[in-house]
Amino acid sequence: MIEYKNISLESFNTFAINAIASTLLVIESESDLMDLYKSDFFESNEFIVLGGGSNVVFVDDNVKKHILKIEIKGLEFEDFADSKSIIAGAGENWHEFLENCIRYQAYGMENLALIPGTVGAAPIQNIGAYGVEQESCFESLRAFDVKYGQFTTFAHDDCQFAYRDSFFKRNKNRYIITSVKYQLSNEFSPNISYKDLSDRFAEVKFEDIKPTEMFEAICDIRRRKIPYPENTPNAGSFFKNPEICLESYELLKSNFPEIGGFINGDKVKIYAGQLIDLVGLKGYKMADSGAGVSDKHALVLVNYGGAIGREVFELSELIIKSVHAKFGIKLEREVNLV
Ligand code: EPU
Repeated sequence: MIEYKNISLESFNTFAINAIASTLLVIESESDLMDLYKSDFFESNEFIVLGGGSNVVFVDDNVKKHILKIEIKGLEFEDFADSKSIIAGAGENWHEFLENCIRYQAYGMENLALIPGTVGAAPIQNIGAYGVEQESCFESLRAFDVKYGQFTTFAHDDCQFAYRDSFFKRNKNRYIITSVKYQLSNEFSPNISYKDLSDRFAEVKFEDIKPTEMFEAICDIRRRKIPYPENTPNAGSFFKNPEICLESYELLKSNFPEIGGFINGDKVKIYAGQLIDLVGLKGYKMADSGAGVSDKHALVLVNYGGAIGREVFELSELIIKSVHAKFGIKLEREVNLV
């Protein structure tokens, strides 16, 4: 375990917010967590668990809570007749983990390529993109229970996965995920239900689509649609797509016919990015601040340089108020505010 004092968090969050952490502990193994438990760390300190820092905004310039940066590595593959199981350390980079899966001919999560962050963070908000959520291949995870100082295995149903949600998102800081096990298929069966993908492969026979082509297609679409944190720091979708009932959707559509939605039973998921776009905030830059709304995708707030967490928070409040005033819909943040 490595301990840093008064360290800048700029390189530890994809929004590149330059907050200062009073203590940052790098957790490299499960035994580091047990050592902390034995030293009464969890009883005596407030803490925040950080993975790749891709879904967080440090609102205060000084972070008083201790930061536990999870860097537990490791990949274990196991072969079965028609599937493969893969156990990955929580600190593995998600995209590199998927590259390894493809190399190992283990399929099912290609559509989740290029999502920033770590494997340990993936189940917490049940990451998803282009018609696939990680839960479709999730088997179990191992987590450290900070209350009782023991490791526990959570099966799929224990995790209560939902859209960008899980048991762990609702019960912060009781369990620290140390590894995740996925069950992937030996057979590649591309999911091209998302329009950009079906357009891209319109001229190719379904059975001729190669896993690496699919992976590359996802990376291209993401790079085209969403600003990449390495060029323009951001935390991906800042808000969840709101779900409303069919009746409200029909009423909304009668006033704003351009509003799209995905109908699922008696609920409709509408697009937060489109709502923000329609209130005219796409590409908006806050005065005297580096905080803004991406001009590529209105759901992504960005740091054009030097933005502080408080400004990003204020910008998100302005967006919530503007969308509410025009459409009567209250957007919910997807990112964690610390
Ligand atoms: N739209 C606009 N203006 C914009 C952006 C989007 O009108 O500035 C419209 C689009 O034209 C489209 C609709 O909104 O009709 C939906 O946009 P998009 O297909 O880009 O998807 P999204 O709903 O905005 C979700 C996920 C993304 C994921 C994509 C693709 C959430 C909160 N976000 O975005 O996930 O990559 O679908 O599956 O569910 C993330 O979670 O960080 C993330 C990037």
